[in-house]
Amino acid sequence: MIRKGNKLIYSIIAAVTLIAVVAVLIFNKHQAETVNEAAVLQKEAPAGSVNTEDGQPSSTLEASATPVPSLKPTPMPEPSVEQDIPSIAEVFADYFPIGAAIEPSQTEGLKADLLKKHVNWLVAENVMKPDAIQPSEGNFNWANADRMVAFAKENGMEVRFHTLVWHSQVGAWFFKDAEGKPMVDETDSTKREANKKLLLQRLEKHVRTIVERYKDDIQSWDVVNEVIEPADPDGMRASEWYKITDTDFIETAFRAAREAGGAEAKLYINDYGTDNPAKRDRLYELVKEMLDKGVPIDGVGHQTHIDLFGPTVNSIIDSMKKFAGLGLDNLVTELDMSLYAWNDRRDIGSDIPEDLLLKQADRYRELFEAFRVNKDILGGVVFWGIADDHTWLNSFPVTRTNAPFLFDKQLHAKPAFWAVVDPSGQVRP
Ligand code: GLA
Repeated sequence: MIRKGNKLIYSIIAAVTLIAVVAVLIFNKHQAETVNEAAVLQKEAPAGSVNTEDGQPSSTLEASATPVPSLKPTPMPEPSVEQDIPSIAEVFADYFPIGAAIEPSQTEGLKADLLKKHVNWLVAENVMKPDAIQPSEGNFNWANADRMVAFAKENGMEVRFHTLVWHSQVGAWFFKDAEGKPMVDETDSTKREANKKLLLQRLEKHVRTIVERYKDDIQSWDVVNEVIEPADPDGMRASEWYKITDTDFIETAFRAAREAGGAEAKLYINDYGTDNPAKRDRLYELVKEMLDKGVPIDGVGHQTHIDLFGPTVNSIIDSMKKFAGLGLDNLVTELDMSLYAWNDRRDIGSDIPEDLLLKQADRYRELFEAFRVNKDILGGVVFWGIADDHTWLNSFPVTRTNAPFLFDKQLHAKPAFWAVVDPSGQVRP
């Protein structure tokens, strides 16, 4: 009885032990699976996702070898010049030259490399304007202009001159009479006549001195800039030039440029908004009147500061056709394409929406296709800059982000670049 009882007790102990061992094994297996699942989940988590409510990784995940997702924003790529993309100037070699407006500092470093790859024409954004070249009477400042010309020569590029005459960025000294008083205030007719003569002499000296200096290096000249303003009396901009000399300043500047530069010099009258019929037609009337008097005008510079919303490409081309009808050349002299409509003062910020960049690409494609088709009446296309890191549109009409060119702030090709060099989408990697 006692032996039988012992056997029963041993059997019960053995069974309980076995159950306990099995239970421990099952529990351990479950724990191991939980840890594995957590590790897999963490690997699959997108960058920037978090694992617990307070945003910290759980201790299980901290212990795993998988790196913790970073919460830092992706850094911007470094600026660089992409050498493995087509050169815009080479793509358009059979059509017309491609240019860019630059400051002298851009003749060095990465910006210079970008220019060397893509353009074969340069224009000074500022350093050849009247106030930069002759800041005070008889005091000519050549250093910056010379530097640009030298850079262009070293790299087989041509230079355009911008601009011999303008109402803006011009020294006030031009318009002071012999006693230092503003010429525009003069009411005495004899003195007004003397002032006009003095101003035209100063202008002639300015033009001759510059053209003589650069005539062997520069062929294409903006002689006068922005003289038309449909809202002003007679549709002529009511500048000091016009108030003091009427249209004689235009005639004097072109004649002096021709005499100093010879027959080789190509002389342009430059303006913005030339697609606008009122402005275009007033400019046409002026140019025709000048040509009829024998004033040597070779072509019209269309600045072409446009935006995503206007003007139409057809209106730009129609204007060129109209001037071509007078036997004149056309140039696109200051091309850029703002992301904003002209009366929009908002700022979209530095993270530019992709749809705007694609819209910009579509419009650039349409524009350059029209330029290609009309190459016989279009002598060249110059951008008013080269990459989005440097543009007057970042401070005009308000300070904000704008991105008007084919290259972004890192100097990398934008969708607009590909639309221009590869409109059918065959080459783009
Ligand atoms: C006008 C002038 C240029 C330049 C731009 C804006 O278009 O012709 O020289 O000043 O304005 O920067």
